[in-house]
Amino acid sequence: MKKEEQERRDPVCGMDLSDLEEYLTVKIQGDTFYFCSEPCAKRFKSNPEKFKGDPLIHLHDLWKVFHDGSVETQVLRAVNIHIWDGDFAVIIGASGSGKSTLLNMIGMLDRPTRGGLYLGEKNISKTTDDDRTVLRSSKFGFVFQQYNLIPWLTAYDNVVLPLIFSEKGDGLRRADLEKRFSDIGLANRGEHRPAELSGGEQQRVALLRALANDPEIIIGDEPTGNLDSVTGEKILDMLIALNKKEKKTLIIVTHDADIAKRADQVITIKDGKTIPGHLYHTKTYTE
Ligand SMILES: Nc1ncnc2c1ncn2[C@@H]1O[C@H](COP(=O)(O)OP(=O)(O)OP(=O)(O)O)[C@@H](O)[C@H]1O
Ligand SMILES: [Mg+2]
Repeated sequence: MKKEEQERRDPVCGMDLSDLEEYLTVKIQGDTFYFCSEPCAKRFKSNPEKFKGDPLIHLHDLWKVFHDGSVETQVLRAVNIHIWDGDFAVIIGASGSGKSTLLNMIGMLDRPTRGGLYLGEKNISKTTDDDRTVLRSSKFGFVFQQYNLIPWLTAYDNVVLPLIFSEKGDGLRRADLEKRFSDIGLANRGEHRPAELSGGEQQRVALLRALANDPEIIIGDEPTGNLDSVTGEKILDMLIALNKKEKKTLIIVTHDADIAKRADQVITIKDGKTIPGHLYHTKTYTE
């Protein structure tokens, strides 16, 4: 199908189809829908009602521009992304392409220059800082390449710290905390300070900290980047298990192509634009 109309969007990945030379037209349940490629069409068909609703996270024509003196850097240029409840999405791209910037927008650590950022149907790009802090600390769990543990606090105290800013209860009971540490292979490590733990142990503490508020969405910026491959693989398996078993939405920035292979959705950033990974798939549609 040739490009005919402007402003057509793929309902699954959110891509603006006017950027494409060709896209797919598919009739589903008597209605006509347009898709960038076959994987989106098939995903839609597997659960049309879900994809007719609102994505969990929706970036709509979102821009991020940094100003450094007279130098302007357009890092994200009219980006459109849909991340659905329960997705495992991976963001890839060259160093400096804007992966962390994008993740910081999604996780509300930074604000877009312009454009819409929706959580469900709520546009959160313009909410107050206080509202953003509450939303961020109740909905998101973060894991970074640098573990960012507070050096003078014990591992236990690092894990319960985010609960202070969250609306979710009074914290964790000591017995729960001990069980969580033990389940992740950190029995008897809770009273240690970060410097007394290995990199893999520190990242597991960081993972427990990210999970302390039982977030819907887990965000990882190269969470295995500082770990050896075996330890990195273990942390990754833990993250993917949270997505598969506990249905948490997982969004990871990585340089690792093997991680991307395990994702539902791969988003590549290039020249300020995002390209859904499945775009490289066939443009023909077979029932
Ligand atoms: N606060 C800032 N002020 C000015 N420029 C910034 C700021 N943050 C990021 N940038 C610039 O934005 C671009 C994207 O940076 P970003 O950190 O998002 O890249 P990245 O894809 O995560 O790279 P890496 O793989 O090296 O982590 C870079 O050119 C960077 O210098
Ligand atoms: Mg980065």
